[in-house]
Amino acid sequence: MAQYDVVIIGGGPGGYNAAIRAGQLGLKVACVDKGVDGGSTLGGTCLNVGCMPSKALLHASEMYDSAANHFAELGIDVAPKLNLTQMMAQKAISVGQLTKGIEFLFKKNKVDWVKGAGRIAGAGKVEVMGSDGVATTLEAKNIVIATGSLPAGLPGVTLDQQRILDSTGALSLSEVPKSLIVIGAGIIGLELGSVWRRLGAQVTVVEFLDRICPGMDTEVAKTFQRTLAKQGMVFKLSSKVSGAKASKTGVSVTVEPVAGGAAETLKADYVLLAIGRKPYTEGLGLETVGIAPDKRGFIETDHWKTSAPGVWAIGDVTLGPMLAHKAEEEAVACIEAIAGKAGHVNYAIIPNVVYTSPEVAWVGKTEEQLKAEGRAYKSGKFPFTANSRAKINHETEGFVKVLADSVTDEILGAHLIGPHVSEMVGEYCVAMEFRAASEDVARICHPHPTRSEALRQAAMGVEGWTMQA
Ligand code: FAD
Ligand code: NAI
Repeated sequence: MAQYDVVIIGGGPGGYNAAIRAGQLGLKVACVDKGVDGGSTLGGTCLNVGCMPSKALLHASEMYDSAANHFAELGIDVAPKLNLTQMMAQKAISVGQLTKGIEFLFKKNKVDWVKGAGRIAGAGKVEVMGSDGVATTLEAKNIVIATGSLPAGLPGVTLDQQRILDSTGALSLSEVPKSLIVIGAGIIGLELGSVWRRLGAQVTVVEFLDRICPGMDTEVAKTFQRTLAKQGMVFKLSSKVSGAKASKTGVSVTVEPVAGGAAETLKADYVLLAIGRKPYTEGLGLETVGIAPDKRGFIETDHWKTSAPGVWAIGDVTLGPMLAHKAEEEAVACIEAIAGKAGHVNYAIIPNVVYTSPEVAWVGKTEEQLKAEGRAYKSGKFPFTANSRAKINHETEGFVKVLADSVTDEILGAHLIGPHVSEMVGEYCVAMEFRAASEDVARICHPHPTRSEALRQAAMGVEGWTMQA
């Protein structure tokens, strides 16, 4: 029986980063992965059917939209023609290169990649069922569960991946829908809704709550919704879907007001169900080591340790935001803890990004959270209309908002909506990790002309001395 210091089940951002870190620290490590949606490549949801393919389509569709609608303003007259087959092909090529990259990193760090479905078979044992039906057992001093998550279902809406799709289906349509109904105004719904709207679909988003993107600062969410609506996305808030019926050519969706009242039927070519994801622990053998997931199926941990000795859990399968970089943080900390080091994750400083246009990015507390905590705070805000780089690039939608403690001036949250803010929020992550005051950012020289100057001007605003607006 092969013996390991660490056997990791799952090869997504949690699992593959854990495996690489374990290899770096000289631990004997195997990563068991069964692939996602019938595939056999490493990288989990993120690389195969999540972050990477969605960003590939967001980038390509934004280029198409720019060429069709914005180049003329810059003095470039073109008439773009969509080649969806090529758009999908370039996505697949990039994804293939990225998943191969993980294979290379496994070899470089002496990680054994064991292909197949892993199942815990009692303390210190992982049984792997290969696609050839042959089972092997690995012996492990430590088992790390990194099995990730799956799309959540909705009663009355049966996924067929033909007309009623989850995110995986919506990432690989072979035609542009004339109309698309998105159930759920969360991150997947708005990112993939944006992709297909830009390519020509009429997109209607049905959301249970009276707002989009729960968890996002409300002021930002309102601006975001207004912007998406201006782009042509239609929102039906405070509405619930009670059923969807697919035919060969389309789908009928029954929508009811949450507050009660008459139901209406909406028709579309396709439906995308995006109401969240659920932890994935099916067939994992948790009962063999006495682990009972919580009511929603998550594995509870204390510093990545489960209730079973020698069994750890990280990433989407545990509580916390379902984000690739959260899984990666936990991977490093968990393996360092296994290696006897001081693993640490600062859960207060995990950034969030929505990769639409404009982008939305934030880190730390929202105004609503600070109010609920009764924390006295000040805020500074700066619009991109007053930022010279944004202005010359004709990308002036949005603003930066900084929230700081009223007494100490420590930065408590930063909320950005605007051009390329995904690349800018990291500055506030660093500042907050160093427990910077807003004045620190306000007094740091930023290059001109850049969008990053908006970060500084907003920080100046906390003490009321924003200079350029
Ligand atoms: P996963 O990536 O889900 O990996 C788990 C792996 O374990 C899979 O390969 C699975 O097949 C395997 N597995 C499961 N059970 C077993 C078993 N018993 N035996 C062997 N293998 C098993 N996050 C971001 O931070 N940024 C983004 O831009 C972003 N975009 C996204 C877009 C979409 C459309 C989706 C769906 C998700 C997106 N996410 C994004 C979320 C991100 O993909 C997840 O948070 C991340 O992949 C979680 O990593 P993980 O390692 O915990 O699990
Ligand atoms: P989500 O949790 O972001 O949004 C789900 C939305 O659906 C919420 O607004 C919710 O109120 C709504 N909803 C729930 N039940 C509903 C119902 N019955 N009818 C109508 N609306 C309903 O989940 P989503 O978008 O599916 O994404 C799943 C996860 O993937 C998220 O947790 C996110 O962290 C991750 N992700 C991250 C991305 C990024 O970082 N850019 C991109 C895509 C996904």
